[in-house]
Amino acid sequence: MTETPPAPAADRGRLSSLTRLWPFARPYRGLVALTFVGALLATLTQLVIPLVTEAVVDGPIADGDRAGLVPLLALALGFGIAEAALFFLRRWAMNISSLQIERDLRDTLYQRLQRLPIAFHEGWSSGQLLSRATSDVSTIRRFVGFGGVFLVVNLVTCVVVGALLLLTCWPLGVAVLVTTVPLTFFGVRWEGRYNAQSRQVQDQYGDLATDVEEAVQGIRVVKSLGRSGLVFSRYDRKAVRLRRLELEKVRTLALIWCLFEFHPQITLAVLLVGGALAVSSGALTVGGLVGFIALFTVLLWPILSLGFLLAQAQETASACDRIGELLDAPLTVTDRPGVRPQPVGTPARLRFEHVRFGFPGAGGPVLTDVDLDVDLDVAPGETVALVGATGSGKTTMTALVARLLDVTGGRVTLDGHDIRDLPLVQLRTVVATAFEEATLFSMSVRENVTLGRPDAGDDQVAEALRVAQADFVHDLPWGLDTRIGEQGLSLSGGQRQRLALARAVLGRPSVLVLDDPLSALDVHTEALVEQALRDVLAQTTALVVAHRASTVLLADRVALLEGGRITAVGRHTDLLAEVPAYRALLSSDSELAGTAERDR
Ligand SMILES: Nc1ncnc2c1ncn2[C@@H]1O[C@H](COP(=O)(O)OP(=O)(O)OP(=O)(O)O)[C@@H](O)[C@H]1O
Ligand SMILES: [Mg+2]
Repeated sequence: MTETPPAPAADRGRLSSLTRLWPFARPYRGLVALTFVGALLATLTQLVIPLVTEAVVDGPIADGDRAGLVPLLALALGFGIAEAALFFLRRWAMNISSLQIERDLRDTLYQRLQRLPIAFHEGWSSGQLLSRATSDVSTIRRFVGFGGVFLVVNLVTCVVVGALLLLTCWPLGVAVLVTTVPLTFFGVRWEGRYNAQSRQVQDQYGDLATDVEEAVQGIRVVKSLGRSGLVFSRYDRKAVRLRRLELEKVRTLALIWCLFEFHPQITLAVLLVGGALAVSSGALTVGGLVGFIALFTVLLWPILSLGFLLAQAQETASACDRIGELLDAPLTVTDRPGVRPQPVGTPARLRFEHVRFGFPGAGGPVLTDVDLDVDLDVAPGETVALVGATGSGKTTMTALVARLLDVTGGRVTLDGHDIRDLPLVQLRTVVATAFEEATLFSMSVRENVTLGRPDAGDDQVAEALRVAQADFVHDLPWGLDTRIGEQGLSLSGGQRQRLALARAVLGRPSVLVLDDPLSALDVHTEALVEQALRDVLAQTTALVVAHRASTVLLADRVALLEGGRITAVGRHTDLLAEVPAYRALLSSDSELAGTAERDR
C-alpha cells in the first residue's frame, strides 16, 4: 500500500485552512450567526455582575442602605435569567448547525470518493481515506459545534474586558496587558509546533487503520501462512510510533496549558499588589478594586480555555487540510461539458481506435511496463476473446471500455460515438463489466445482483441468475433476500463469481465486458455457465478476457495481446495453427489439445 501523500508544505501550520469550512457553513449562516450572538450576549451579561458587585460594595454596603440592595439584586437576577436563556439558545443553534454541517461534509466527501477516478484510489491506502472520512470529520464537528464558537467569543471577551479594565483603572489595565505579551509570544510559537505534530498523529492513525483493515481482510492469508506474529510486529511498530507522536503532541499541549494556566495567577498577584497600592494612594475605591478583580475573573476562563481552543483549532485546521486533499484531488474521469445521451444500439459496435494507454509513473507521465497501443473492432453482436500472458494488459484494456481508466491517446467508440461524448451514467448503463475479483457488498443477494439496474424485474433477475448458473441462491435461508456477509465471505469463490456474472448480464447490456469471470468455477459448472452464456453473448457485443481454451471457444474471434499490442486477431483454430505465440500460451491447456484435434 502506498504511504500517505505528504501535506503540501504551504498548508502546514496555518489556521487559515479553517476557511475551507465556510462553504459548508454558508447554508446555515443564520443559525451560525445566532450561535455567535447568543454566546456573545451570554458572555456580556456575565460582565454586568462585576459592575453590580462594585455598585453594591460602594453603595448599599458602604452606606448601610439595605433597601438600596433590592433593585441591584433584582438586576443581577434578571441578568442571570437572561444568561441562562441565551445559553439555551446558543446550545440549540450550535448543535443543529454543527450536526448539519457534519452531515453535509460527510456526504460531500463520500460523493467525492465515489467520483474520484480509479487511478486516485490505487494511489491511496484505504485506512487514510477511512480516517479522513471518520475521525477528521468528527474533529471538524467538535470544533464547529464548540471550539470555534468559544474561540471567537473568548477572543472578543478578552478584547472587551481588556478595554473595560483600561477604562476602570488604566494603570492596572496596562499591567494586565503587559502580562499577555509573553503569553502571546510562546503561545504562537507552540501552536505552530502543535499543528505539525497533530498532522503527523492524524496521518499515523490513517496508517494504522490501513493495517487493521488489511489484517482483517487478509485474515485467511495471514493465518494460513502463520504470519500473525510478523503482521503484529509491523502493526506494533506503527502503534509505538503513534504513541511517540502522541506523547510529543501531549508535551507541547502541556506546555501550552501550563502557560495559559499560569498566566492568570501571575496577573492576579500583580493586580493585588498594584490594587493595594492604588487603593492606599486613593486612586481607586475598595469597590473599584473589588469590581476590577471581579472583572478580571471574567477573563480567567477565556484565557485558560484559549490554549485548549487554539489546539483544537489547529487540529481542525489539519483535518481540513487532510479532507481538502481529497476534495481537491482532480476528477480526471468526468463528463465533458454539454454531453448528451447518444443513440447506442443493443448490441453496439465497440472499437478501439489507435488507443494508447500508460499508467503515469511516480516521477510524472512516465509509462510503466504496460504501454497499450491497440486497434480492435468488435462488430455488433460479436464476441471477441482477449488472450495474453499475465500482466500483458488485458484488465487494463477492458477497464478503458467503461472509462474506469481514460485512454491517453486515440479513442474508444460505441456505435461510432467516442465514449467520452456519452454521459458517464449512460456509458455505465450500456456497458456492463464483470471483474476478475468478484466484489459483493453487505446487502441482500437481490440488491447485489440488481446493483447496476435497480429497476430490473423479478423475471430479469431470475434469467440473469439462470445464465450465471447461480440458482444456488434459491437454497439460501432467505432466498434472494439473504444478506451476504462483508464481501460475500460466507459464499464460495465460485458462488461469488457467479453472482457477479449475474450482475453483469442482468438487463442485457449493449456491451458486455468479462474479465476472466469463470476462473473460480469447477469444470462442470463452467461448462453449464458457458452453455447459458452463449445465449447472452449471441445478443450482445462482448469482450471476454480468457485464460482457458474453454472460455476462448465462446468467442467468435480471438485477439492476442502481446507487449501492449494486438499482434493477431482471428478465429481460434486459425490462430492456433498459424501463430506460435498463441499456441504457446494455450498449449498447456490440456482441454485445448482435444479441442484442437477435434477442430482439425
Ligand atoms: N495502477 C497501476 N499503475 C501502474 N501499473 C499498473 C497498474 N495496474 C496495472 N499495472 C501494470 O500494468 C500491467 C498490466 O496489468 P493488467 O492487470 O492489465 O494485466 P493482465 O493482462 O490483466 O494480467 P492478468 O492476466 O494477470 O490478469 C502490469 O504490468 C501491471 O503491473
Ligand atoms: Mg487481469
